[in-house]
Amino acid sequence: MNLKDCYNFDDFRKLAKKKLPAPIFHYIDGGADDEITLNRNTNSFNDCDLVPNILNSVGEPDLSTTVFGRKIDMPLFLSPTAMQSLYDPEGDKASARAAEKFNTIYSMSTMASFSIEEVANVSSGPKLFQLYIHKDKSITDDLIDRCSRANFDAMCITVDTLVAGNRERDHRTGFTTPPKFTLDSLLSFAMRPGWVFKYFTNKKFELANIKNKTDKGTNIAKSVMDYINEQYDPAMNWKDAEYCIKKWNKPMALKGVMSVEDAKRAIDIGCTAIMISNHGGRQLDGSRSPFDQVKAISDAVGDKLEIILDGGVRRGTHVLKALAAGATACSFGKAFLFSLGAGGQQGVERLLENMQKEIRRNMILMGCKSVKDLDESKIIYRN
Ligand code: LAC
Repeated sequence: MNLKDCYNFDDFRKLAKKKLPAPIFHYIDGGADDEITLNRNTNSFNDCDLVPNILNSVGEPDLSTTVFGRKIDMPLFLSPTAMQSLYDPEGDKASARAAEKFNTIYSMSTMASFSIEEVANVSSGPKLFQLYIHKDKSITDDLIDRCSRANFDAMCITVDTLVAGNRERDHRTGFTTPPKFTLDSLLSFAMRPGWVFKYFTNKKFELANIKNKTDKGTNIAKSVMDYINEQYDPAMNWKDAEYCIKKWNKPMALKGVMSVEDAKRAIDIGCTAIMISNHGGRQLDGSRSPFDQVKAISDAVGDKLEIILDGGVRRGTHVLKALAAGATACSFGKAFLFSLGAGGQQGVERLLENMQKEIRRNMILMGCKSVKDLDESKIIYRN
């Protein structure tokens, strides 16, 4: 199997599974507790159906939309995800270049393995930075200042990860940052010699954005859950978010908003966008899916905020349904990390091309000339 055989999420996942050591594969693939929310995120799209209109002279549909002040060529972008050099040595640089080719947004995690500056040097495409609020508040100031200097377009503050979700797969595999070779996991690394060779012959793994502030996760191996529980501020509140919004003074989203009430409050403190997200089912298991919440939130605040649906997106039709339910755009994490693990930059490009084709084809089949045509008349909920 190679990239040419990858047509959908399962194909990329299968290929990534062949290439990545088990602890790394399961870190991407897993969710919290019983993984109910992880599965629900995708399944919820099946609770409604698309209703096409016919004979609309669609011709070539316009897939573009505007989000975070940038016009992007398709209503789907890369979610912020940590430690991308574990999936391909070029990591964030590969993702950013691939996103730029498709003129869509690349997002960088605070816990990225390449720095704000390194990525800004290789890509002038649209860039979003995902801020984690650490107990050490000097980290927040430093990251905001550096994103300003590097001309990132927007930031989001993650608000759903004040403590780590219970990711039992990571407990079992012993996954750490940086990866630790334990007796238990040795075999799974030994069975992926290609990965091991690349890991040791490329830039040394680091949490590049924060290594000057803490050794943890760079020189001191930590499970991601321990890192989060030790370093992030569980007492983070609306005032902290407001502080960041004022200091940043450019488009800002809260990532992890799930209720109408919180979406309204996000407007009050100056957000331009929200990302409806449950962190890919990795945090609060039993949480509602983003798709199940998007309509209510859009009905309440859709004229005042950009709404990004983050979670469960695997198909072009998922994006169409999200937009019809009121989202401005979607972002996806797992799908894109599997494509990065399956084939580096080329893998991400193949995935984005597949998704662009799916969105285009399905917009034509729906009778939609532009993303604006995807309104609530285009879906019917089964219940
Ligand atoms: C995770 C964090 C680091 O989900 O975003 O693992």
